[in-house]
Amino acid sequence: MIGASGAVLPKVMELSSVAVNVAVGTVVAAMCGLVLSSRPPKPSSYGGEGSQSELAICEAETHFHMISSSDSTRDVALRYDASKVHVLVTGGAGYLGTHTCLELLRHGYEVTVIDNLANSKLEGLRRVAKLTGKGGCLHFKRMDVTDVTELSAFLKMIPECSACYHLAALKAVGESCQMPLEYYDNNVGGTVRLLLELHQHNCRRFIFSSSATVYGTSPAPVTEESPVGVGISNPYGKSKFIIEEVLRDFSNSKMGKEWAIMILRYFNPVGAHESGMIGEDPAGVPNNLMPYVLQVAIGRRKELTIFGDDYPTPDGTGVRDYIHVMDLAEGHRMSLEYMDQKGGGLYTFNLGSGRGFSVLEMVESLQKVSGVPIPYQVGSRRPGDLAEVYADATAAQRELGWKASRGLETMCRDMWRWQQGNPQGFNGEDEQADAKRSGSRDSERLSGIGLVRRMSLAAVFVR
Ligand SMILES: NC(=O)c1ccc[n+]([C@@H]2O[C@H](COP(=O)([O-])OP(=O)(O)OC[C@H]3O[C@@H](n4cnc5c(N)ncnc54)[C@H](O)[C@@H]3O)[C@@H](O)[C@H]2O)c1
Repeated sequence: MIGASGAVLPKVMELSSVAVNVAVGTVVAAMCGLVLSSRPPKPSSYGGEGSQSELAICEAETHFHMISSSDSTRDVALRYDASKVHVLVTGGAGYLGTHTCLELLRHGYEVTVIDNLANSKLEGLRRVAKLTGKGGCLHFKRMDVTDVTELSAFLKMIPECSACYHLAALKAVGESCQMPLEYYDNNVGGTVRLLLELHQHNCRRFIFSSSATVYGTSPAPVTEESPVGVGISNPYGKSKFIIEEVLRDFSNSKMGKEWAIMILRYFNPVGAHESGMIGEDPAGVPNNLMPYVLQVAIGRRKELTIFGDDYPTPDGTGVRDYIHVMDLAEGHRMSLEYMDQKGGGLYTFNLGSGRGFSVLEMVESLQKVSGVPIPYQVGSRRPGDLAEVYADATAAQRELGWKASRGLETMCRDMWRWQQGNPQGFNGEDEQADAKRSGSRDSERLSGIGLVRRMSLAAVFVR
């Protein structure tokens, strides 16, 4: 089957378009289980006490399990395959989360996502389910990690998690300067509460999404031993550094000694899954370079502003280390395998390509791949921006056996395929699904989340 983007889509896509009559929700949802899961459907996941036709409708659309507070522990447990390794992914509905979930599902993991959808849409996970055909192994609960009561009740409800990937965070640099308390509370407070709850529920492996921003003003290339925490210019970056400090202190404590903790410092993730079905869908004005460039290329924005062309770099524009999102997703999976071998302790790795590209090189590469001219103007430098930031990625290669394998052209080709196939991101799709779900038990919470999303930022940060 050929998708809109020209990509060959898995067979399962054809099946997912089978029209279903949702009037008898439980039956239909069970049919979806048959269609999309290699395992036989477990009737109790769609029926039994606590299940409702509305829930079944969600499942019929999304092909993964939506967990509701009214579900019984027994019903939830029956949806899981106890023979698989079960991992929790916070923020799993977001850009990096969806690609990571896809990678984990493809490698046989049972995945539970918690996300408050402050910066994401469920459509991303629906597509992960479709792409993998493993929606039966994907479980979702809309929840805020800062809500300890709900988190605790939820962790009691699901089977024990072997590990937690913690991606949930607010990440807009400019917004963090306007709302530092919200950022520290969400990112730092959320992580501390999550760690305490995971400990209570016997989950002792933790993979944290950190950022190259923790290196502050350390000169490139940065190794894992380069100084961190000096010259970080915004609360978002500081929140990542503070969380790393919390994890280092925790790891040294008696309680933390039982844990394996992995800090992954991402450089600049770009690109999309090669199908073009999932990718980055920024709310409001994109904060990062490539999503902005893509929106210029597709005609959603007039032109790009490059902040400074007088840096001591080959063409004068800032140099950053870009990494394909699927390479990053593979790094996540391999990190867990590494922790399996190594056991307890604290591990830190750069996930970068080890080489930098300038803003102009990125723009030119996308122009070449898309055949679309990308107008830009040069503005003045922004305070806090460095001339070049790129990783020394040799430790990840040596220890994890991981290396970024997708080059600049692949990154641009994949992100262009995603953008062309989805010029408005996931927008249209989620609105349709939301309309069908109207009146759902989570509607009041959604309106609060919508507020956070609308606050998402105006300022353009091309880093
Ligand atoms: N994308 C990048 O350039 C980049 C670079 C370095 C590090 N990171 C880190 O990687 C992680 C994932 O980034 P991303 O680009 O996928 O961002 P994203 O915004 O697409 O995904 C983050 C997800 O977390 C959710 N979330 C936020 N706060 C939450 C909370 N309190 N409870 C539950 N869910 C919550 C959001 O709704 C979103 O779905 C973040 O921690 C980010 O700081 C990203």
